[in-house]
Amino acid sequence: MGEPRVVASPADIAAGLRHPDLKQALYDEGAVIMEGTVLTLHGEAHRRRRILEFRVFRKDFFHWYERTVFPATLAGSMAGDIAAGRSELVDLGYRVTMNLTADFAGVDRPEGTAEETQALLRLVETFSEGATLIHSTRPKDTVRDEVRAAIAAFEPQFLAPSVARRRALLDRLAAGDIDEDALPRDVLTVILHKGDPDEFTPDMLTREIAFYLQAGAHSTANSTIHAFHDIYTWAEADPARWARLRDDPVWFQRCVHESLRLHPASPVAWRTAMSTVDLPGAGTLEAGQTVEFRLAEANRDTGVFGADADAFNPHREVAPPTLPFGHTFGTGVHTCLGRDLDGGVVPRGAVDPETHQYGTIALFLRDLFARGARQDRDDPPTRATHTARPNWGRYPIVFDEARAWA
Ligand code: HEM
Repeated sequence: MGEPRVVASPADIAAGLRHPDLKQALYDEGAVIMEGTVLTLHGEAHRRRRILEFRVFRKDFFHWYERTVFPATLAGSMAGDIAAGRSELVDLGYRVTMNLTADFAGVDRPEGTAEETQALLRLVETFSEGATLIHSTRPKDTVRDEVRAAIAAFEPQFLAPSVARRRALLDRLAAGDIDEDALPRDVLTVILHKGDPDEFTPDMLTREIAFYLQAGAHSTANSTIHAFHDIYTWAEADPARWARLRDDPVWFQRCVHESLRLHPASPVAWRTAMSTVDLPGAGTLEAGQTVEFRLAEANRDTGVFGADADAFNPHREVAPPTLPFGHTFGTGVHTCLGRDLDGGVVPRGAVDPETHQYGTIALFLRDLFARGARQDRDDPPTRATHTARPNWGRYPIVFDEARAWA
């Protein structure tokens, strides 16, 4: 129904994304990979799916994830780079975040090799191109065929063995041989254990897990590289900034949140009206009318974030209910399920640095800087040319022992 209406004020976006009569609209073209996934479901079906998948966060999930899964996955993904004394951050960021996301989704990588991670990444690239088909300039049916081929490769190589391993464990649980704590803590296990088999047909299960892989990998990788750049360039201006970043991990997380605000991985969210809806900032929408919520633009609103809203300034004060990263993780019923995983908990007042949850982006970057990571002065970073988004295409870094944190 014509061009989408545009909403760009932070408060109007907060209200709009909470409206019960607006349903997800950005992924209709990408149904080949997105149909029936949690991001596209609406109303009661969405609520049930979200509650189901939220079970992955049971008990002390984040504590366990940040202290057990994360260090092992990071060390395994980075060993070669550390030994070489240098790396390329786009490649490294994708490898690390692909493995972290696969851990969360429940996709095993039995070989544990860089080649295996690359194979998974290539498949996820294709899934993502299918999901965002609405923006693709390539023939849509060609992309759909590529997505079907990627699904056909993903299923036997990655998904089927991951399902088989989990089903065997669930059988042992049912037989009383193990207890629930011995199960993997991931989305696939939750679905196989508690999901409705009629709802999760084999095709639906594949799309849901594939969605988690793409939801987590690209967004986390690009956000990590942006945050490296923002923090690095800001700190280079004054050595005292490096000292504070090293000594104050909660402050470090604040810097990551400031970067997340400036570079939201999803610059817009789209919704379609299910009935006539009066929407702040958009007027009256008829059923079928689409609305575009400009998350990136809202995150630089000077009325909310101040006159220097375009600048990286971790000292800025952000008053609740505005979050320090603005609308980067969305809001309302489709709020990103990976938000706390990547961004950690937003500190409200003083927190205990020993037990605080920092999020994987802050932990990954702290690890890099602690190893002395800096830009390679002989090989400066360059922007990506294959996408309209302002991402980094190549970002060479050196592990400089002289800069390593004691
Ligand atoms: C910096 C990293 C990330 C950013 C910026 C981000 C951003 C977003 C945004 C904006 C949405 C809402 C889209 C909408 O309302 O239309 C969303 C949804 C979602 N994200 Fe993320 N995301 C990130 C990382 C992750 C990770 C690591 C995971 C999990 C592995 C994840 C899983 C999800 C899921 C499952 C949804 C759908 C939730 C629902 O529809 O109920 N995301 N994300």
